[in-house]
Amino acid sequence: MSILLRGAAVLTVNGDFEVLTGADVVVDGQNISYVGPGKEWHREFDRIIDCSNKMIVPGFVNAHGHAAMTLLRSYADDVPLMFWLEKRIWPVEARLKREDVYWGTMLAILEMLKSGTTTFTDMYFFMDQVAEAAEECGIRAVLSRGLVGVDHMADRGLEESEQFVRNWQGRSQGRITTMLGPHAPYTCPPAYLKRVMELQAKLSVPVQIHLSETLDEVHHIKSEYGVSPPELLKDTGLFALPVLAAHCVHLSDDDMDILREYNVRVAHNPGSNLKLGSGIAPVPDLLARGITVGLGTDGAASNNNLDMLEEVRLAALIHKGSRMDPTVVTAGQALAMATRESAKAIFLPDVGTIAEGMKADLVLYDLNRPHLVPQHDLAAHLVYAAQPGDISLVMVDGRVLVENGQAVTLDEEKILFQAQQRALHLVSGGKE
Ligand code: NI
Repeated sequence: MSILLRGAAVLTVNGDFEVLTGADVVVDGQNISYVGPGKEWHREFDRIIDCSNKMIVPGFVNAHGHAAMTLLRSYADDVPLMFWLEKRIWPVEARLKREDVYWGTMLAILEMLKSGTTTFTDMYFFMDQVAEAAEECGIRAVLSRGLVGVDHMADRGLEESEQFVRNWQGRSQGRITTMLGPHAPYTCPPAYLKRVMELQAKLSVPVQIHLSETLDEVHHIKSEYGVSPPELLKDTGLFALPVLAAHCVHLSDDDMDILREYNVRVAHNPGSNLKLGSGIAPVPDLLARGITVGLGTDGAASNNNLDMLEEVRLAALIHKGSRMDPTVVTAGQALAMATRESAKAIFLPDVGTIAEGMKADLVLYDLNRPHLVPQHDLAAHLVYAAQPGDISLVMVDGRVLVENGQAVTLDEEKILFQAQQRALHLVSGGKE
């Protein structure tokens, strides 16, 4: 399929942060084949979309999350992380069935697509169902089976991970890729991480892990091993592999130097960190060191939505407030974090910018809105003012998935019904 997007403003989010006006973008198959000045075309297109008064932006890349946790949205709020996990989330998750994960993921994908996210990262279980949902909907996904080394599922998790990677890596014309997902240093002791590393040597996929999310975690790891969580992962050898570390809220200068030295990517989750009272990650210091920082929502049970526009705004605002410095994390840096840098963080080299040869994952925003007039600075508009309701079209891998507010590939009514029924059933005890 070939599509001409004609006469748009384009936020390329390339290295020079070029903003084009009156530009054409051509999509051939899965890829962008032209970005540049509008011109007379002497070739056929399957479809031509008039983009006057519209802005084309790379689709958001959600670098950290647990999609099916949409079923637990607003089920446990305003409590600390360990209480939240141990008393509320884990008991309900223990009752989850594969169909629940499928419909919870469908709900997440529906919400993400409609709010301009074209790639999501997941760490959960029943991952075949997550991958099936992603395959059916057309969204791009980087998926890992969550691994916990301290319970009866430790061995089975590794077996399922191997099977999952072998089944799904590169499926759907490359739209689905996989990672290994050891949950965190406090649930995966070094001996277990060594087994994850052995598996990684066989499968050659990257690793994602939660890291230094709360002060409690840092204290726990220090009292048990005498070092910080990043030092522990370095000493274990995990950082010799390609690693994405989610959260990284509580880091010393030495910890940050370790992340830089080993080229560890960070997924910043400001909404979840604020809501769980975990703290504020030292993002300006990470960026100053040249560390790759992507942006994620985390699960909907700790956010409580999967709207990356909200996340990008938080990322641009909270560091200014906490540092009392309006120059830190500019709109451009926040936007890059949500697109290009997120893609880099989850090891997708051809996603996250509007440029020739990149995957055609893009979003069209209608600029003809009261809160988007006048148009002095489009990156600032997107970060500080835009709303999901401004989105007129979402494309993934060259395929239109949302148009005029409607998800083309999804049965919205059915998803909402299934998710609601299943969520109620789960929290009522999950009995048949
Ligand atoms: Ni998480």
